[in-house]
Amino acid sequence: MAKMVNLVIDGKEAQVPEGTLIVNAAKKVGVYIPVFCYHPKMEPVGMCRMCLVEIGRPVINRETSQFEREEDGSIKIQFSPKLETACTVPVSEGMVVRGFSEKVLSGRKDILEFLLTSHPLDCPVCDKGGECPLQNLTIDFGPGKSRFIYDNKKHLAKHVPLGELIYLDRERCIQCGRCVRFQDEIADDPVIGFAQRGRSLQIVTYSEPGFDSYFSGNTTDICPVGALTTSDFRFGARPWEMNSAASICQQCPVGCNLTLNVRRENKSGGNFVIKRVMPRQNELVNEIWICDKGRFTYHYTESPQRLTQPLVRKGGELVPAVWDEALELVATGLKEAGRNILTLASGRLANEDLFNLHKLTKSLGGKAVQYTEMAGGDLVAQVGVGLGTNFSDMGTGTAILVVASDLEEEAPIYWLRVKQAAQRGAKLIVVNPRPTKLDRYASHILRYPYGSEAAMMLALVNALSAKRPELPEAARSLARAGDIEAAAKAFAEAESAVILFGSEGTSLGASRSLAQACANLLIATNHIGRPNNGLIGVWSRANDQGAWDMGFQPVDDLGAAFRDAKGVYIAAADPAGDNSSLVDALKSAGFLVVQELFLTETARLADVVLPAQAFTEREGTLTNGERRVQRYYPAIPASLETLPDFAITARLAQRLGFDLEGRIAMRVMERLAAEVRDYAGVTYRKVSEISEQWPIIGRQDLYYGGTSYENSQGLGVQLQSAAQRGEPVPLGWSQPSVPVSSADSGLVAVPVTRLYDRGQTVLPSNLLALRIPEPYVALNPNTVAPLGVQDGMMVQLKLGEIIFELMVQLDYKVPEKIALIPRSMGVPIFGPTLAEITLVERAKA
Ligand code: SF4
Ligand code: SF4
Ligand code: FES
Repeated sequence: MAKMVNLVIDGKEAQVPEGTLIVNAAKKVGVYIPVFCYHPKMEPVGMCRMCLVEIGRPVINRETSQFEREEDGSIKIQFSPKLETACTVPVSEGMVVRGFSEKVLSGRKDILEFLLTSHPLDCPVCDKGGECPLQNLTIDFGPGKSRFIYDNKKHLAKHVPLGELIYLDRERCIQCGRCVRFQDEIADDPVIGFAQRGRSLQIVTYSEPGFDSYFSGNTTDICPVGALTTSDFRFGARPWEMNSAASICQQCPVGCNLTLNVRRENKSGGNFVIKRVMPRQNELVNEIWICDKGRFTYHYTESPQRLTQPLVRKGGELVPAVWDEALELVATGLKEAGRNILTLASGRLANEDLFNLHKLTKSLGGKAVQYTEMAGGDLVAQVGVGLGTNFSDMGTGTAILVVASDLEEEAPIYWLRVKQAAQRGAKLIVVNPRPTKLDRYASHILRYPYGSEAAMMLALVNALSAKRPELPEAARSLARAGDIEAAAKAFAEAESAVILFGSEGTSLGASRSLAQACANLLIATNHIGRPNNGLIGVWSRANDQGAWDMGFQPVDDLGAAFRDAKGVYIAAADPAGDNSSLVDALKSAGFLVVQELFLTETARLADVVLPAQAFTEREGTLTNGERRVQRYYPAIPASLETLPDFAITARLAQRLGFDLEGRIAMRVMERLAAEVRDYAGVTYRKVSEISEQWPIIGRQDLYYGGTSYENSQGLGVQLQSAAQRGEPVPLGWSQPSVPVSSADSGLVAVPVTRLYDRGQTVLPSNLLALRIPEPYVALNPNTVAPLGVQDGMMVQLKLGEIIFELMVQLDYKVPEKIALIPRSMGVPIFGPTLAEITLVERAKA
């Protein structure tokens, strides 16, 4: 428990923990000291002087070491002759602060006048106008007019691209350094910095491509003026013209809280359009950050390629139909299939959709299959991190083990939060076959050959056991790895410990073994059933965990499952597009219905296609990797002939004689909570509750950014794991796979995840076109040196019987004899696979 310090700020008594900065202590008691360079998420630098205050400290008698007293008995306070910066000075006992004295106000006015000498004052056309700290503070504290001669203003470039995503208006920059410090301190991508001096000082980018960071958009939020803008929102709308809807990012399992700012506009035919995506504060999930994928990919929902009405197959062609006709056809098709129905759904759907779909499937006697390349959701429900878990609480005393994951690529905000926990003192154990950015923060790094991830985790369990049970040879050899005993000890001895497991190089089967081995390590070290202890799946979709919780499970052989089925109902999945070898299996299914946003390769094969609504057009809940159930709301009206997935399934159920709730998502959640034990007690009211968050960012806050940070729509509800409910969770066994990269096995291709892939919810966002790579293979230069392959050349990669033409990225971090193939980039790869490479005799155009 930190020692508490008493002080008085503008007549208000404050009691705050030792070490608190005056600016934050003041905010706690409702005194708002203006700032520019200070930001509560970053270290103070005292650059702008906007927060100047008068500080008085008790006078201490040097002989007695006691406070000196005034005649009336009160403690004698001596004020510094000069103003001091409230953002750099920590509180001390007995301190008296004057934040709004005449002297302070005069100083503040001078600082603002000085800042404005180099500012263009183009508020009427500035994107920040209306939510601009400089504008607000000038109105509150600035001089009515400037003594500076207008013609002496320094004019600087106004449309400087720092990359294609972020633009700089040099004139507007007040040199606070927030953007540079964010990239350095928070994102650890120091790709921008200051150049030149004095009034010519400017922000420049050092990277190629410019501003090369997954977190670049956050700088536009924290820039206290309109100097940094996104190419998405730039000159797009004024803040006061827009409405906002709370949402949840659909791109990865973090579940970052978003605000969608919406406007109805003439140039869009009088329709409502989303003008920008902003982070919404949730200190338990994403704090105030989001990655650029979450910020910019929403455009796929606006694609003209979206399905807008049902399609039915007539004369071999898919033709438009009305809902009645389409649903009747589906009902008939499913009835004819009898109990031989297979439903395939992915974690792109909301819990409500998955619940209804699962209910319908089970009512028909069918099989509910999850479309995923990762297993272990059932284990996460048992030994996952439970209620009360928060990465922000993790630091000294916590161990975080990240296995089989390039975390920044798979879930950027998890990467950010794990890194911050490590910086606060958490022991970070990185277990991965190749170096990733997370290694910079690791206390222990363990390497294993691709395919041996589960064996590596079992070796860690073994290193802790006095009995040292017999392990497969794969694990025995890994158990001799250098740092394993120390890493196992650090994990076991930590007060709390979490494991994040990803999908680097794993097949579905290998993922199952990995999840089990991770669960075993947690159980063996008793890191379960308590907050900040347990397992987290770094899933590839936002609601994969929800899909597990609703009863969907993956199958090893999807082709065989399709062939066995007489009726296949696919929602939010494109197996034919991802793997052309499944086309024949799908064609052999008696009846195929696809519920989708787009006419995917799978939808093209369907007998009936049902148009679903995008997340921007409807409401629902998602369950994130930490099993926090979070709600998103409709932001814009949907096309008239589309429906939310849960409603489509409910209408279908009605025709088949089953009663499913399909009117509003909230009612579906009521049934879900009544039937799915882990979700008992979860209601829309509960997930929409908020509590006080610190630091205060958003609301009408003038200093730390616009009002879009405000979270008045809910922080979500975290579920309890079975272990937390006190249920027994025994150790389990799943045979680990064997390493595939032995010296004599030739080249092995393994699947990895890249943040920007060519998936259906990424590629249509033109904004990211330059960041989304062409299909490529990453190789160690030594692997292909004998072939004369150089960076950027085209090669032919033979996987099984299929040959793909790919561009080469050479990277010494890739292990030799390994070819990294990003998922969702046009090459179907579902686990380590033997491969051959030959050079295509031409360089990439
Ligand atoms: S661009 Fe914005 S955040 Fe960066 S230094 Fe200038 S004013 Fe500050
Ligand atoms: S980290 Fe994941 S959930 Fe958060 S904004 Fe990025 S893609 Fe979305
Ligand atoms: S010096 Fe304190 S906010 Fe800039």
